[in-house]
Formats: sequence, C-alpha cells, structure tokens
Amino acid sequence: MAVAASVRRTPLIAGNWKMNLDHLQAIAFVQKVAWSLKDAGHDFAAVEVAVFPPYTDLRSVQTLVSADKLPLAFGAQDLSAHDSGAYTGEISGAFLAQLECRYVIIGHSERRNLHAETDEQVAQKVTAALKHSLTPVICVGETAEDLEKHGQSAVPVGQLRAALAGVTSAADIVVAYEPVWAIGSGQAATPEQAEQVAAQLRATIADVLGEDVAAKTRILYGGSVKAANIASFMREPNVDGALVGGASLDVTEFASIVRYQKHVGA
Ligand code: PGA
Repeated sequence: MAVAASVRRTPLIAGNWKMNLDHLQAIAFVQKVAWSLKDAGHDFAAVEVAVFPPYTDLRSVQTLVSADKLPLAFGAQDLSAHDSGAYTGEISGAFLAQLECRYVIIGHSERRNLHAETDEQVAQKVTAALKHSLTPVICVGETAEDLEKHGQSAVPVGQLRAALAGVTSAADIVVAYEPVWAIGSGQAATPEQAEQVAAQLRATIADVLGEDVAAKTRILYGGSVKAANIASFMREPNVDGALVGGASLDVTEFASIVRYQKHVGA
C-alpha cells in the first residue's frame, strides 16, 4: 500500500479557474501571481505552479508566459477525445498542444455531473491528451451519497481504473482526488481522509501501470483548499499538491497556497 511514498515528487499547485476571468482579466491576473511569487522569492522548481484558464484565455496566457518568460505552467480545463472534424464546440488536444499547454484537466466532477461525462469518455480523453503530449490531470472523487454507500475509496479508485483503460506505456499523468462533497463547499476533507484515498489511488496506479509510474505520479487533493489548510494536506506522504478552485481566483490567497512551505504552525 505504501508504494514508494518516499520517492521525491515535485509538488504541484494548480489553479482551476473554471468559468471565471476573461482573457484581459487573465493577463492581469497571471502577471500579478507571477510577480507576487517572484517578489516573495518563490522557488518554482521546488513547488510547481500551474493555472487552468478558460479556453478563450489560453492564447493570451501563452503569449504572456512566453514573452515574459514566466515560470508558470498552464493548461485547459477539458479537451475533445477527437483530433478534428465535425464536433461543434469542441477543442482538440492538437490545438492545446499548439498553444503550449503542458496540462489538461480531464473528468472534473462538474464535467461528469453537469455534462454527463462517462468513465469511457474520460478514458478516451486521457488517451487523446497523451497522444498530443499533454499531461492529463485526471479528476476522481466520490459524492456524499457514494461516501455513505460505498465508503471513501471505492468510487475514486474505480474511476481511476476506468480512466487508465487506454494507457499502456509509462505515461506522465497527474491524478486529482476531489471529493465532490468538498468542492466549493468550504468543507474540505481531513488530511487523513485525503491521504487514505491518495494511497489507494497510488496502489491502483501501481497495479495498472507498474510501481515506477506509481512512484513518480503526483496525486493532488482538491476541494475547499485554501491558504489556511494547504500545509496540513502537504504533510501527508501521498499528497503531492492541490487542485484549487475558488481560492485560485484571489492573487494573495493563491500565492499563499503556493508558498505553503513558509506557513508556520498551519
Ligand atoms: P474548490 O474547487 O477549491 O472551489 O473547492 C476545487 C475544484 O473544483 O477543482
């Protein structure tokens, strides 16, 4: 169970903006985050920072990051399982790769619930992301009802197993454990709960993709993460970062989450 939990993995703090900030606001926001972290002397190699703006912001963010050589990664919040064709409203992994996206979020609970995305579709999207050299941030998590019926790990583990169906090689993936009941609710999981599920998810990766991939894969916790609770999650051996929604839209709060190593007594 404690699969290589001691292997060093670079922590990742990822901001999922959801449907917030247009491209002009995105430029101002990314500039402020980058400068406030630089001013604080943040070591971007020690704790990686990524933002996930809406599609319409990506070109602006790419241009800014590249022109100012900002040490920030960025990605999209979803992608199509297809490369091109008659799929009105969809965005392909090929387009995202052209925009120098490093990551793409796949299977967020809002996609699963509001857009009826199935485990099969999530798996196809993971395959599409890897095909275009994008690192998928695969989201899994149980609802309050699942929690009551099946306990904490069963649903997220099942979702991850399904999402990895088409992954064959030593793929570069990130997994985000986000209990649905904790998202946007202000009621985060406890660090112990997050650790328990993260350990199960790592064991699942070991089972499907082998120990080496499991040891290097970053597993994030998401759901009401804020500056006041991030350090307690990051102390857990199998939690390698956070996927942050609401709190990623406030420059000071987000920068403070990124700087969790500096928090005292948290
Ligand atoms: P939250 O959202 O931080 O606002 O709870 C997390 C997410 O949905 O990724």
